[in-house]
Amino acid sequence: PAGAPPRHFLDLDAMATSDLRAMLDFAHALKARRRAGIRPPLLAGRTLAMIFEKPSTRTRVSFEVGMNELGGSALIISPQDSQLGRGETIADTARVLSQYVDAIMIRCHAHETLEDLAAHATVPVINGLTRHSHPCQLMADLMTLEERWGAGGLAGRRIAWVGDGNNMCTTFMQAAVHFGFELTVACPAAYQPAPSIAEAARARGARIRVGTDIADAVTGADCVVTDTWVSMDSKDAEARQRDFPAYQVNDAVMAMAAPGAVFMHCLPAHRGEEVTDAVMDGPASVVFEEAGNRLHAQKAVLAWCLDVMEPVND
Ligand code: CP
Ligand code: NVA
Repeated sequence: PAGAPPRHFLDLDAMATSDLRAMLDFAHALKARRRAGIRPPLLAGRTLAMIFEKPSTRTRVSFEVGMNELGGSALIISPQDSQLGRGETIADTARVLSQYVDAIMIRCHAHETLEDLAAHATVPVINGLTRHSHPCQLMADLMTLEERWGAGGLAGRRIAWVGDGNNMCTTFMQAAVHFGFELTVACPAAYQPAPSIAEAARARGARIRVGTDIADAVTGADCVVTDTWVSMDSKDAEARQRDFPAYQVNDAVMAMAAPGAVFMHCLPAHRGEEVTDAVMDGPASVVFEEAGNRLHAQKAVLAWCLDVMEPVND
């Protein structure tokens, strides 16, 4: 309704559990309907602007195709070919774009840029990854795990995060507040997530253990998840190549996990670094389902932001 504040999708810890649950249910339903050849045009005539300060394959394509399949369209703005690159502020950009488009997705370096955009936009703003977090990815990840474990199947499971205490690690901690899984984190001492993130999640009931011991984190886990050692904003690639090899997810690491455990990775993967080919291409890996689910998850995020989610009865 006119005048209502826009429904931003910025961080999982700012979301209501009931909204996240409804979005996941809707994502599953959209996937099932698409398989049956049904693509409901819930966003007919609507437009999404996507601002990219750094590269993307999955986020860009899943949002653009998602908008198209929902009957709308998407356009890309990059700093190089817009006035953002010549110093127009994100706040002024937000004021202008809000009058042309129905929602704005942004992938940016600083989390503050996302917050600044959201503070000045009068349309929903979606976090397409910042240095701090990547909530769109987590929606696809949770959806993928529910496909394996069943609806409501996250509660009581254990997920082991291995490697860098980065934006994805942070977002798993934020998700642990909502979905009842335990999170065990193993990162080298110099690459631990900020303690405040786990503390905030624990204060809201999340079960999270953070340490440096990969065996401790992985033993008995139902899911092992990792990510690149060198994120798009990492400045110290050489040091990282030296500091992370003990955290590679390989067959020996997967053998410590629970029988039937799955392997996840948001991609892009650096094969032979954080994960071996054998694990990426092996029976535990759900990485390509996970990537495919970005499409359905992002459609659900868009539908929630623009308040067009339909009741799910199937
Ligand atoms: N996982 C993910 O966000 O991939 P892209 O960088 O390709 O968008
Ligand atoms: N941690 C990675 C995720 C890429 C999707 C990065 O920020 O580069």
